[in-house]
Amino acid sequence: MDDPRSLVLYGVLAFLMVASLRRAFHNPKLDAIPIVRSSKLAGNYWDAYNFPVNGLNLIKAGYAQYPEGIFRVARLFRWMFIVSSPKLVKEIGDAPETVLSFHGGVELNFPIKLLIGPAVAENHYHVHTIRTNLTRNLHACFPDVKDEITDAFGDVVQLQGSEWKSLPMLPTTMAIVARVSNRLFVGLPLCRDRTYLQNNVQFALDIMRSRRKMDWFPYFLRPLVAPLICDKDKTIAVALKALSPLIEERLSKEKELGPDYAGKPNDLISWLLEDAEEKERNAPSLVLRILLSNFAAIHTTSMAFTQAMFDLTTRLEHLLPMREEADRVIAQEGWTKTALNSMFKIDSFLRESQRMNNNLAAAMVRKVVAKDGFMFSDGTVLPEGSMVCAAARPIHYDSSIHENATEFDGFRFARERAEHGATQDLNQVIFKRQMISTGPDHLAFGTGKHACPGRFFAATELKAMLAHVVMNYDLKAEMEGVRPPDAVSGLAISPNATAMVQFRKRIDL
Ligand code: HEM
Ligand SMILES: *[C@@H]1O[C@H](CO)[C@@H](O)[C@H](O)[C@H]1NC(C)=O
Ligand SMILES: *[C@@H]1O[C@H](CO)[C@@H](O)[C@H](O)[C@H]1NC(C)=O
Ligand SMILES: *[C@@H]1O[C@H](CO)[C@@H](O)[C@H](O)[C@H]1NC(C)=O
Repeated sequence: MDDPRSLVLYGVLAFLMVASLRRAFHNPKLDAIPIVRSSKLAGNYWDAYNFPVNGLNLIKAGYAQYPEGIFRVARLFRWMFIVSSPKLVKEIGDAPETVLSFHGGVELNFPIKLLIGPAVAENHYHVHTIRTNLTRNLHACFPDVKDEITDAFGDVVQLQGSEWKSLPMLPTTMAIVARVSNRLFVGLPLCRDRTYLQNNVQFALDIMRSRRKMDWFPYFLRPLVAPLICDKDKTIAVALKALSPLIEERLSKEKELGPDYAGKPNDLISWLLEDAEEKERNAPSLVLRILLSNFAAIHTTSMAFTQAMFDLTTRLEHLLPMREEADRVIAQEGWTKTALNSMFKIDSFLRESQRMNNNLAAAMVRKVVAKDGFMFSDGTVLPEGSMVCAAARPIHYDSSIHENATEFDGFRFARERAEHGATQDLNQVIFKRQMISTGPDHLAFGTGKHACPGRFFAATELKAMLAHVVMNYDLKAEMEGVRPPDAVSGLAISPNATAMVQFRKRIDL
């Protein structure tokens, strides 16, 4: 700061920042859309600056005031339009990419092109691979997934005798989920390699940190500052070192023996190689897809399981019914993927936990890319370039949508499946109350065209993990009846990262 040149630089930056804030907020065409502020005195600049702390409160307040419509809150350098009514949320989910862009929305909040690279930002073939090939192989790969769950819990939990043991829930879960996911992504033995697994977690942390720094720069400056901020090369290099021998071997076997050689592993590497264009069929390109898949899978799934464990240990009356269900179903059907379909209570419990603890205050961020803007059926028009999203958390807590919405009721969806099943179109109704089914009233995985393509895997993994836990352990909260508070930052709502859960070997009384 002693150097006068840096003062001039900061001065110029501050000027550019204020100029782009002014430009972003002033647009008379938007006057009809109400602004939600933290107080009458608070200006847009303050609310935009304070969004990481107060964003969730603003979104809840906006939803309470405008439950049928659309409102806006100030973010740095642009408005964020938030849609309340499930009817209009459905319109976001159904809009084509050329009108409301999913990828444009991602770039606004999470500039993948700058954070990771142009190849993964421009070609999204891995999404197709996850949605189709990975999902279709869940049946065939379930024995591996199950094996990895048993093995990972055994290694990580390590109980002795019948003593209680406290484990930090989020890190413990992360270690297990990273292994289980990578059993399907890259197979044995790499899925148990500590350096490889830790590197995947580190990649996500580095990218998130770079992203938070990037948020403070106006959009037009971001490409310039990206090389100074982005912290990805180290973790990409570690992943490349771990994965390239594996990928090279697959490519050379394919060359030698043809694309469907005997003993070809059934994992994400094989599926990606099959879907990729020629220029992507090399180790450096493939490694980015694998890192990205890990990024999309590990934190989301770990947070969901951790929240479910906090819910279970503060509402222990759910434990024995789920244990009874898992014992009974597995005795009848064996420990298979099909058996999971009969675990209505476990499915319902996880869906209820996601309803109350989904990880986004507002989800389904999209950018309006149609030249003439986007018109909702209520007549509201958002101009080209606008950022729009759905008020996910408040919708989940709305008692006009979910009965007694503010109460955690672990088996509500299982009851609904049982009640409606007898009288209505069975398949339709049962499907609607499952963990994997999305809708404008249930946005943990988004809904519509871009609903999470990994949710079939996530649900299989989470259900098998929860069944394993209730069948093998007794549980209790660190402090009886106290649910550890969430950490909220802007749109992100995360489970408490340090809170413990106590485990003991199952004792049947
Ligand atoms: C409980 C765990 C998970 C949650 C809560 C979750 C949630 C979400 C959400 C909210 C979206 C955006 C939807 C939208 O904007 O409309 C999404 C997209 C995505 N998720 Fe997940 N996800 C989970 C697990 C996974 C897993 C295990 C994978 C990979 C195997 C995965 C891969 C993806 C991908 C690739 C996208 C982008 C979709 C696209 O480009 O159209 N997710 N997820
Ligand atoms: C992946 O799915 C596509 C169709 O969506 C199919 O043509 C291809 O054979 C599948 N690849 C593998 C490895 O299963
Ligand atoms: C909702 O709460 C009321 C009052 O506590 C109760 O009578 C009713 O059964 C609850 N409904 C459900 C679906 O839990
Ligand atoms: C997490 O939970 C622990 C106790 O379980 C508590 O001491 C700590 O303050 C919580 N952290 C946050 C960020 O709320």
